[in-house]
Amino acid sequence: MANEPIPAAPERKKRILSCIQPSGIPTLGNYLGALKNWKKLADEFDGAFAVADLHAITVRQDPATFRKQINQVLALLLAIGLDPEQSIVFIQSHVPAHAQLAWVLNCYTQFGEMSRMTQFKDKSAAHADNVNVGLFAYPVLMAADILLYQADLVPVGADQKQHLEIARDIANRFNTVYSPTFTVPEPYIGKQGARVMSLQNPAKKMSKSDPNPKSYVSVFDEPAVIAKKIKSAVTDCEGAVYYGDGKDGINNLMGIYSCCTGLSYDQIAHDFAGKGYGEFKAAVADAVVEELRPVKERFDRIINDKSYLEDVAARGAARASRIANRTLQKAMKKIGFVLPK
Ligand code: TYM
Repeated sequence: MANEPIPAAPERKKRILSCIQPSGIPTLGNYLGALKNWKKLADEFDGAFAVADLHAITVRQDPATFRKQINQVLALLLAIGLDPEQSIVFIQSHVPAHAQLAWVLNCYTQFGEMSRMTQFKDKSAAHADNVNVGLFAYPVLMAADILLYQADLVPVGADQKQHLEIARDIANRFNTVYSPTFTVPEPYIGKQGARVMSLQNPAKKMSKSDPNPKSYVSVFDEPAVIAKKIKSAVTDCEGAVYYGDGKDGINNLMGIYSCCTGLSYDQIAHDFAGKGYGEFKAAVADAVVEELRPVKERFDRIINDKSYLEDVAARGAARASRIANRTLQKAMKKIGFVLPK
């Protein structure tokens, strides 16, 4: 009798990791550029998702607000539909290996390459009174976040691309100096929604730290507020809905609408041919409200359940620590550190 073929060993699922800072209420940009993709990818990959609280203190935070926002963002990760039994959902500072590996990687990162980071240049201009060393070394901590989990893929918005490149450079450098230690990660940047722009200045990205609240939709805004903000979005004076040069405001709204409805730009232009911006903006607002409604409903149910949130964070930190500590020890051993028994 012929032998049964031996089934191949199950392949390890590829791992994805991503984080979001609790430095304000997340915006529609965070949601469409990152969070929505996290949920989509969480079934296909082994996912680890964190609240990047260590990154957030590169800008001064009010302690009470900061504490509240960390819990809100943790609850938001669950509200977007991440299942904490399936994915690892955790708070970055609960896993000390992040800060430890960041220190190690600082010593494998050049001053010159950090000085070229556009986010550092932008943020140090915006916070000229507090250009701290943490702000400068921010991308190294981000590299540590990623490399600790041997992440294959990192789903982010387009603004994080440069940081991903540095993480890859650091991983390659370390692997070359010693021997393969870290997986070299690839960015995953969605075709759409990767760069949602400010509603008031479509040349600038939508940001939760923008001082003008009309420039962004927060994921927790009430429907009437969303409608008002989208209605007042800056457009052009042509009055025709199509994707084109010199139409940054309309292009942005089309991108948002397309992400929420799944419609192509051609279909949107066809559907709104001969209709004015007022009608289009009302449709965009409705689509955004419908997109965010279930998220907000789940969030409202979770946010007051303190013990559930604490439990999720504790289990997430324990699972994350196991993976992170293994990688940290591997890297430190290669460098020649004497590891504790
Ligand atoms: P943060 O907190 O600024 O943003 C979280 C995610 O949202 C994306 N994003 C956007 N996408 C599209 N349009 C926008 N207007 C927009 N604004 C923000 C960001 O690209 C990001 O994916 N440094 C990171 C947090 C971080 C991290 C990591 C990410 C820390 N460690 C490790 C990946 C892997 C940040 O500040 O994201």
